[in-house]
Amino acid sequence: MKEKIDEYLQEIDSLKANTKDELEQFRLRFISKKGVMTDLFQAFKEVPNEQKKEYGSQLNVLKEKAQEKFQELIDEVNSVKAQDEAQSIDVTLPSPSNTGSIHPLTKTKNRVIQIFERQGFSVAEGPEVEDDFHNFTALNFPENHPAREMQDTYFITKNPDTLLRTHTSNVQIRLMEHGKPPFRSIMPGRVYRNEAISARAHCFFNQVEGLYVDKKVSFKDLKQTLYHFSKEMFGKDTQVRFRPSYFPFTEPSAEIDISCFICKGDGCKICKHTGWVEIGGSGMVDPNVLEACGIDSGEYSGFAFGMGIERITMLKYQIDDIRLFSENDMRFLSQF
Ligand code: DAH
Repeated sequence: MKEKIDEYLQEIDSLKANTKDELEQFRLRFISKKGVMTDLFQAFKEVPNEQKKEYGSQLNVLKEKAQEKFQELIDEVNSVKAQDEAQSIDVTLPSPSNTGSIHPLTKTKNRVIQIFERQGFSVAEGPEVEDDFHNFTALNFPENHPAREMQDTYFITKNPDTLLRTHTSNVQIRLMEHGKPPFRSIMPGRVYRNEAISARAHCFFNQVEGLYVDKKVSFKDLKQTLYHFSKEMFGKDTQVRFRPSYFPFTEPSAEIDISCFICKGDGCKICKHTGWVEIGGSGMVDPNVLEACGIDSGEYSGFAFGMGIERITMLKYQIDDIRLFSENDMRFLSQF
């Protein structure tokens, strides 16, 4: 009996199992009721009483060893299985996840910033929830002036002095009231107007404002800055045209038109067969605006402009519906 026990102990020690079948064989041989252990315990009954103690403890050792080994083998087989599974992943398959793309409006905004930064402009930001003073009064909109009506303002019902800014021109005031000239900044941001939503108009959109205030700034500087911008943004053959206009905060004021870069001025659907497309407004900062911000209009002058980021993007990529920018349709966004 002693020999048998030693033999089994050795067998258990040297055994290895890599597959489920081998594990099962081990179980049948050493763990199950039909295995060698049952035979041994059967034989144990025949052992003379004075040897029972010795063999009994040897049998228990063998039984424990078999249990321990069985657990070890289970762990081993499981880890082999896990490894196999890991190796069966094909790392060369294309990733199913979508990495996303830069929104076309962000692309345009970044390009605008890049062009103006190279001309010495910094980037400033201001609040979208604004008060009447910064959105209107300081920008030379007299109270009850019809120009306020033109802007279809969203007022906060509980406090009519608070509104959603209708343009980024509020940031001009925020910049000038707290600083000292010279100022040379562009101010991109979202604006709101109570307009019916259609392919051409939305109740929120983005503008980029520009402001340059210093001694002896003239209309010539305004023209040159916007010539440079237009050629960089739309191509070096782009022509710029200034059309007289009216804004309360600039005097004189002008709309900025660029030659249609699609038909090169011949006339097409985009330019409505005029050869020109409008990209924004501009002018010399009205002395009243400078004075409202505590700047001596006798010493300083400046120019300002404002352009629509959606408008520029729609022209550049020939997008015919402004609603696409806020619908988050991946089929549209993934093209940029
Ligand atoms: N604030 C004007 C608008 O929303 C755009 C604009 C025109 C801004 C002329 C300017 C400017 O700074 O000089 O329609």
